[in-house]
Order: sequence, then structure tokens, then C-alpha cells
Amino acid sequence: MENETHTVTCSAPVNIAVIKYWGKRDEELVLPVNSSLSVTLNQDQLRTVTTVSVSRKFQKDRIWVNNREESMENPRLKRLLAEVRRLTKEQGSMSGNGTRPPSHDCHMHICSENNFPTAAGLASSAAGYACLAYTLCQLYHLQVDVSLLARQGSGSACRSVYGGFVKWEMGEREDGSDSIAVQVAPESHWLELEVLILVVSSEKKAVSSTRGMQTTVKTSPLMKYRCETVVPQRMETMERAIVERDFPSFARLTMQDSNQFHAVCLDSYPPILYLNDTSKRVMQLVTAYNKLHQEERVAYTFDAGPNAVLYCLRETMSELISLVTHYFPPTPGNERNYIRGISSEDCRTDSD
Ligand code: ADP
Ligand code: DP6
Ligand code: CO
Repeated sequence: MENETHTVTCSAPVNIAVIKYWGKRDEELVLPVNSSLSVTLNQDQLRTVTTVSVSRKFQKDRIWVNNREESMENPRLKRLLAEVRRLTKEQGSMSGNGTRPPSHDCHMHICSENNFPTAAGLASSAAGYACLAYTLCQLYHLQVDVSLLARQGSGSACRSVYGGFVKWEMGEREDGSDSIAVQVAPESHWLELEVLILVVSSEKKAVSSTRGMQTTVKTSPLMKYRCETVVPQRMETMERAIVERDFPSFARLTMQDSNQFHAVCLDSYPPILYLNDTSKRVMQLVTAYNKLHQEERVAYTFDAGPNAVLYCLRETMSELISLVTHYFPPTPGNERNYIRGISSEDCRTDSD
């Protein structure tokens, strides 16, 4: 019993925000300056798979991301593991299915893999930390809001805990206990909504999201206006657009929020530039297409990187793909530049 190795493997999806989180009011607890809202993507296309093993035989905690060992001296990672151990100790012998969870004082080996570009503005930190938090909760049989734990690894990760349309309530409490993710609607609510990702560059971004948002909060005068005046109202209208499946409103708000997020990045000092010329050409193409149809049929959004995420209804997708492949022909050997997916379910435990 004592020399037993406990192992659990889980997977988690990526989520792409349509109302962006950018900026923290508390760095340690990862508490945001504004609420945000996202769509969870299909795990069959983009996902993180994480295996955690716990054994008395292990000498220390270790982590491998995409087959490379990384340092455990990452304050957020350490904090997350410490919190999991604290809860395991507190919840003691509670167990989910009759088996005993591993002891809190054994070391763990974490092995995590993303099947898409890491640190390139495609929400790898979201899928990565949601997967880790979820896997740890399964392994230790923890009775806790997984989004609370995931948030402490990476803010956007709290929204990847659920499928469909998810908001992250910024919360008011100092201890962060009300800063959690809540599902606005399940994926089944709007099955016609589809997403197309254009991988403009798989390169690691020059400025990480964590560092970029610190600079913005410190230096951008526009940021105050965004989080106090714009986002609270936009959260409400966006939620309504989703509930009513009003694509033109959903699209307009999504593009406006992406634009303002990149505007506060430019308003930071020194400026932060995540969009490149290709990203801007994608914005122009979508704008021209919508103008031609005299309504919003496609929406673009860009996270902290140059890669475009396009939303449209199923009836528009084949025309959108023709348009995109005409203006941005895939280069030979690089056909995976286009990733198609739909909003899907939440984290899951792999059966084997
Ligand atoms: P992204 O736009 O991809 O989310 P970020 O700058 O927010 O980029 O975060 C990237 C960082 O997230 C990586 O450098 C790594 O530290 C962490 N990360 C990404 N994927 C994983 C994973 N599967 N497991 C653990 N940490 C991960
Ligand atoms: C532009 O969640 O990656 O993708 O909390 O510091 O880890 P940390 O940052 P992260 O920031 C995400 C920023 C964004 C917008 C969003 O996902 O809401
Ligand atoms: Co991130």
C-alpha cells in the first residue's frame, strides 16, 4: 500500500475570450480588474493532456511540459501545489469512489502536453492550468471549485474548466473566494456557432500575458476607462447576445472587445504589440466581408499573439474557408495553419 503509485490522466480544452481578461488587481491570488467571457473550443482539436503520478519513491516534485523538464521554481505552480496539499490534508480521508487518495506528503511527477502552439496566443496557459487543477482534484478526490484552483495557475484557466459559454466573475472579496468561473450556457445552446483558427505564427510571444498585463495596468490611462466603464456594460450585452443567439451582436461585441484590448496594449508604455501585418489583413478582410453583406457574419478576435480566431455560423463556414484560403493560401507542409473547431464539453478524465 505504502509503495503504491497513484496516477491520473485528464484532458482540458482551450477557451478563447470574447470579452478579454487583461490586468490583475491582486498578483498573488490572480484576481482580475474586470470580468471576462469566453467560448470553450473542441477538445478533439486543441487540448492539453496531463498525467500526474504520486509516489513515496519520488525524491522531489518534477514537471515536464511538452516533453521538456521545467523548473518547479514557478511561484504560481508552487502555490497551486501547496493549496492542493493543504486541501488534501484538510479533507483527510474523504474519498470519491471508495479508494483512498494519495497522501499529501508524497512528491508528484507532472507530465503535460499541448497538441497546439505553446505561449503563442492560443491560450496554452488556460488549457494547461485547467488540466493540472482538474487532474489534481481527481487524483486527491478534492471537493472544491476547480475553477478557483485553476485561476491561481493562470487567470484564463478558470474558464477552461467548463464547456460552452463561460464567464469569469471578477468578484469582490479580498480572498478571491468569489472570483470564479460560471457557465452562461452549455455548448448545446448554440450548436450553429463555429470557430476557425488561423495560425499566423506558432512562435513564442515576446511578452508573456502575465508581464504584458502588468505593464498595461501600471501605465495605460485608457485601461481605467475600459475596466470601469466599458467592460461591465459589455458583459451584460454579450451575455444577452449569447442567450438570444444573436450572431450580429455577438460578432460586433467580440470585435470591439478585441480591438479595445489591443488598444490598451498599444496605450501601455513601453507599448505592447501582439498583432502583426497578417493579423491586420485578417481584420480588414472580415470587415470588408461584413460590409458587403451589410451585417456581421464573421467575427475576429486576437488574444495576446498574432493568431486569428474567427467565429461564424455554420452556414457561413464554407464561404469563409474559401475566402481565407484564397487570401491566405496555406504554405506547403504547413496545412495545419487552419484549425476548425466548435465549442465543446468540459475537462474530462481519460479512462485508461
Ligand atoms: P498563452 O497565450 O499560450 O496562454 P501565456 O504567456 O499566457 O501564453 O502562457 C504561456 C505559459 O503557460 C508557458 O510558458 C508555460 O509556463 C505555461 N503553460 C503552457 N502550457 C502548459 C501546460 N500544458 N502545463 C503547464 N504549464 C503550461
Ligand atoms: C489575452 O490568463 O494567460 O488571453 O493570468 O497572467 O496567466 P495570467 O494570464 P493569462 O491571460 C490571458 C489574456 C488573454 C485574454 C483572455 O483569455 O481573457
Ligand atoms: Co495565457
